[in-house]
Amino acid sequence: MPDPASLTVRPAKDSDLSQIVNLDRLAFAPLQSNEAIQQQWYSNTVNLPGRKLFLAVEDETAQGIGVYTQLDFTAFFEGQEVPIMGIGGVAVAPHRRGQRVARLMLEHALKAAREQQIPLMALYPFQHGFYRRLGWAWVEPVHQYRVSTQQLPLYQERSRIFPSNLDQQTPALKEIYSQAASQHNGWLKRQDWQWQSWLKPVAGREIYTYQESGQLLGYVVLQFAMLDPPKNVQAVIIREWVALTPSAYRGILGFLASLRDQISTIVWTTFPADPFPHLLTEQRRDPTLSHSPFEFGLVRRFGETGGGLMWRLADVTTALQRRPIGFHPAFAITFQIRDPIFGQQILGFEFRDGQIHLVEDHPYPILKLSIEHLTQLFCGVRRSRDLLWTGELEVEGDDSLLAQLDHAWQAEPPFCWDFF
Ligand SMILES: CC(C)(COP(=O)(O)OP(=O)(O)OC[C@H]1O[C@@H](n2cnc3c(N)ncnc32)[C@H](O)[C@@H]1OP(=O)(O)O)[C@@H](O)C(=O)NCCC(=O)NCCS
Repeated sequence: MPDPASLTVRPAKDSDLSQIVNLDRLAFAPLQSNEAIQQQWYSNTVNLPGRKLFLAVEDETAQGIGVYTQLDFTAFFEGQEVPIMGIGGVAVAPHRRGQRVARLMLEHALKAAREQQIPLMALYPFQHGFYRRLGWAWVEPVHQYRVSTQQLPLYQERSRIFPSNLDQQTPALKEIYSQAASQHNGWLKRQDWQWQSWLKPVAGREIYTYQESGQLLGYVVLQFAMLDPPKNVQAVIIREWVALTPSAYRGILGFLASLRDQISTIVWTTFPADPFPHLLTEQRRDPTLSHSPFEFGLVRRFGETGGGLMWRLADVTTALQRRPIGFHPAFAITFQIRDPIFGQQILGFEFRDGQIHLVEDHPYPILKLSIEHLTQLFCGVRRSRDLLWTGELEVEGDDSLLAQLDHAWQAEPPFCWDFF
C-alpha cells in the first residue's frame, strides 16, 4: 500500500478546478460530462464563502487523487448557536481507492476542526460503517410516511394557504425559518450562500405559504413526482415544512389533504417528535402503493426510518462547555474517551448551574466509551444506561450517577433539512 506520507492534503485553488471536476465526475456522476458538472457545481470558482475544498496531491506526480469540502455551518442545539464543520464531496480517484486516501483527508478535516476549536462536525454518509470507524456517530433517525391524501385531515385552516411570491416574500420566509430553526436541534442557521442554492428554481417544485392578516407563519416546499413504477402514482414529496403556530401546521396539512382529487400520495419527511402520524385517519401506508407486508400479525406498514446524518464531537471540551443542561443537583464525572484518530483522552467535568465545567482532576465515576458513543450521549440520541446495558460503555465507580447524566443530556435528537 502506498505510504500516506507521500501525499499532501492542501487547500484547493481555482487552477485545480479541472482536476476536481474530473474526480467528482468519476466518484458521483460518471455518466455526466465534466462541463456539465463544472457548470452545475462550481461555475468557475472552487471556493465560495463558507465552502473550502481540499485536494490530496501525490507528491511525486503533483496529481490530485482525492478531494473533499469543508463547510462552515452554524446549527441550533438546545437554544444555542453551535459552529459545525460540515464535510461534503469526499471523493477518491478510482485507481487509488482502498489505500487510505479518504481516511487521510478526514483526519485532515478533524485536525483542522480541533485547531479551530470547532465543537462538532456533520456529514451525510455513503455508508455509516465507514465513518463509524473514524469515530462518527449516527444521530438522526429521519421519519418518513407515504400516506394517502384521503388519510389527511381537511383542516379549515387550509383556506389561509397561498402560493408563495418569492420576489416579495423571501425575507419573511427566511425569518420564519430562522425562528423555527432556533427552536429545534440540528437545524442549520442558514447563511446567504445556503439560501441562494435553496431558492434556485427546480422543475416540479412549488412553495406555498400560510398567512394570517398578511403575516407569514409557515410554508411548505412541495415536489411533484411519480412514485412506484410501473404503477406511476401521482405524488407530492414534502421537501421542507415550517410552521410557527399550530394553525399554520393545520393549514399545511389541510392544504395537502385538499389535493386529493389530483394527488394520490403525500410523502411526508419529518423528525420523530412531529405529531403527524397521530393526526391521520388511518395509521397505514397509502394502500394505492405496491403492497409490502409488515410481518407482524395484522399490523400494516406505516412509516419508515431513514439512517441519516452523522455528527462527531471534534473539540470535546469546547462542545461540552457550550452545551446547556437542565438545572439539577450538581455532579461530577470523568470520560475516558477512545478516539480512533486522536487516541485516548481523559477529561473530568462538573455538571452544575445549567452548564458543564472542565475540572483539573478526574472525579469518579469514570465512564469508558468511544468518541462515537459520547457524541450520541451528547446529542440525546441514546442514554448512558442503555449503553451500559449493551456493553458499549463501562463504568469504574458508582454507576448510579448515570441516571443524572441521562437526565442532564436529555434532548430532541438532531434533524436537518439541508443536504450537503
Ligand atoms: C468512499 C471513498 C471516498 C473511500 O475512499 P478510500 O480512499 O478508498 O477509503 P479508505 O481507503 O481511506 O478507507 C478507509 C478504511 O475504511 C474501511 N471501510 C470502507 N468501507 C467501510 C464500511 N462500510 N464499514 C467499515 N469500514 C469500511 C476500509 O476498508 C479502510 O480500512 P483499512 O484502512 O483498515 O483498510 C471512495 O470509495 C469514493 O470516492 N467513492 C465514491 C464517492 C463516494 O461515495 N463518496 C463518499 C461520500 S460520503
